[in-house]
Amino acid sequence: MTMGAQSPRERPGRFITFEGVEGSGKSTQLAALGRALAERGVSVVTTREPGGTPIGEAVRQLVLDPRFTGMSSRAELLLYGASRAEHVEHVILPALESGAIVLCDRFSEATVAYQAYGRGLPIDEVEAVIALATGGLRPDAVLLLDLPVDEGLRRVGRRALTNRLDLEPTGFHQRVRDGYLALAAREPNRIRLFDAGRPVEEVQRAILAMVEPLCQRVPTRSAR
Ligand code: TMP
Repeated sequence: MTMGAQSPRERPGRFITFEGVEGSGKSTQLAALGRALAERGVSVVTTREPGGTPIGEAVRQLVLDPRFTGMSSRAELLLYGASRAEHVEHVILPALESGAIVLCDRFSEATVAYQAYGRGLPIDEVEAVIALATGGLRPDAVLLLDLPVDEGLRRVGRRALTNRLDLEPTGFHQRVRDGYLALAAREPNRIRLFDAGRPVEEVQRAILAMVEPLCQRVPTRSAR
């Protein structure tokens, strides 16, 4: 598959992902940004990983099921990869080719943070699965909502549902956070850091200010 390797310049849409440790508020921020862009007439597709397609959502049920505590790290990596391959081919690339802004709750940076930094899988294995699943598609911008792990887990504790990864010890989540911060330090222009400890509305405004210029050359619904 070479389609995913198409450069952003050749693709009419924009691909923006949200990342962060558990409880960082990325889903809330994604929904708010989606509404704000839609109000401005931008064609927006919101989606998530694992998930975003019927097969992806079935994989999500499986990979996050708290009963499967003993799942091998490589099986876990491949399940996230399977969900992503389906998602890229059937949802993300078609949306980008139609000129939409795709807002996705987690993508490849999550696999590096969780499966390489968190689980300790070799980075070359993780990158190989990512390359296979995405065909080289990378987000134009990654919005990293950063929060101390204890604060994030405290917020997650208030949620009714827990997923299998929420149940990991604090040390695992700390490695995930460190992994995300290392990725952001390596690519500060593409991976943008936001302090998720600040009030929700403030984070929302900062995200919109960062994203609006990216959407400037994307056709609005009325113009298409
Ligand atoms: P969330 O959508 O509630 O954040 O849950 C998804 C969980 O899956 C979260 O614990 C992070 C984890 N995850 C990975 O470990 N690797 C991945 O590649 C992705 C997309 C998510």
